[in-house]
Amino acid sequence: MDTLYNKRIIVGISGSIAAYKSAELTRRLRDAGADVRVVMTRSAMEFITPLTLQALSGRAVHTELMDADAEAAMGHIELARWADLILIAPASADFIARLSGGHANDLLSAICLASQTQLAIAPAMNQAMWDNAATQANIATLKQREVSILGPAQGSQACGETGPGRMLEPEQLLKICNNLFQSGLMSGQHVLITAGPTREPIDPVRYISNRSSGKMGFAIAEAAIEAGADVTLIAGPVQLDTPERVTRVDVETASQMQQAVLKHAGACDIFIATAAVADYRPGLQAVNKIKKQADEMQLKLVKTHDILAAVAALAKAPFTVGFAAETDKLLEYARSKMERKNLNMIVANPVGPTRGFDQDTNELDILWPNGHIHLDLNSKKTLARKLITIIAERAHAIDTTENTG
Ligand code: PMT
Repeated sequence: MDTLYNKRIIVGISGSIAAYKSAELTRRLRDAGADVRVVMTRSAMEFITPLTLQALSGRAVHTELMDADAEAAMGHIELARWADLILIAPASADFIARLSGGHANDLLSAICLASQTQLAIAPAMNQAMWDNAATQANIATLKQREVSILGPAQGSQACGETGPGRMLEPEQLLKICNNLFQSGLMSGQHVLITAGPTREPIDPVRYISNRSSGKMGFAIAEAAIEAGADVTLIAGPVQLDTPERVTRVDVETASQMQQAVLKHAGACDIFIATAAVADYRPGLQAVNKIKKQADEMQLKLVKTHDILAAVAALAKAPFTVGFAAETDKLLEYARSKMERKNLNMIVANPVGPTRGFDQDTNELDILWPNGHIHLDLNSKKTLARKLITIIAERAHAIDTTENTG
């Protein structure tokens, strides 16, 4: 599977003769379906022009940190949040040193410092510079920070010397980038996910619903696929494409969602309920369109069944993860929901008119009986990947305790 499809990748180019290879790399990433934005350092522009990269990426190239126009269009913080992966290719010895030192004195280094997404570098330099203790110490620091170091390759160099320091070929980098998105953490697991809103009909043309877009749930489905899981996604009415290899079941009402979930819950290992299911539905659905008559009308609502609690109460319950959307007392309400519904984990997100619902970004607090992790504001795709890693680890820990205890 091409895991690069729809991925947002920043190709960062620093000053090295290998910068010419970034043109081919950018073209190949786009051919694989990735959305690519190129960021160049000043010295990179001595080797290759932004115009070439603009033509190949199909987007304006970002070069300046202190450029009011560029910052207004998509500033360094937005770029940092936008990316699913930052790939610095080529990464010069100087750029590696600045990265390891946490510098932010140009656009590319500032983006790297501001981003919490995956960072990979493809070093390119003279073999003596690569072997130098300073470079090796910088590389060791970056490895400790979980930066992926891709290469370098051995061979003849532009300076006439032979040794380690050649940037990997675009084809090799493409393969590695594909693998970066595949963790295998959930291989062999069946993951059931709900996403989006439900619609509760009042009459044939009106309904009660909410602003959930499904983005959070769909991002989690994609991340679970990348982690090697079999994914069934029960989706309320949303305008989103189905991620590759996900089995999608479309539903409309809370009751349809409940039926679909219970049909699949017995065979799943992990259940993640991101859907914003209506808590109440109209008691009666009018057969015909309700006519405007009195100045006031009352709608009688009845409680819907709690799908999440029903799954957690199954005799052979999967590892069950709920979401809590709260406008206040976030952690207190979330923890009490987790306890009341007997969940293995709950993911709390603060919501409001411009937060959580129908946004590309989110902020999560992940709670389980004896633990808590906060994930700062980031793209839903990046958060989904981090969440899937945490769920896989927690589910594995519980499994191990049960099998040995
Ligand atoms: O879809 P997006 O636009 O990307 O927005 C994402 C989101 C904000 C909708 C998502 O991150 C989120 O918080 N989803 C849960 C919203 C919600 O309904 O929370 P709740 O606190 O009301 O419900 C608690 C949990 O019970 C949820 O896991 C919900 O799926 C589940 N539930 C609720 C009612 C019900 N009848 N059955 C349920 O299973």
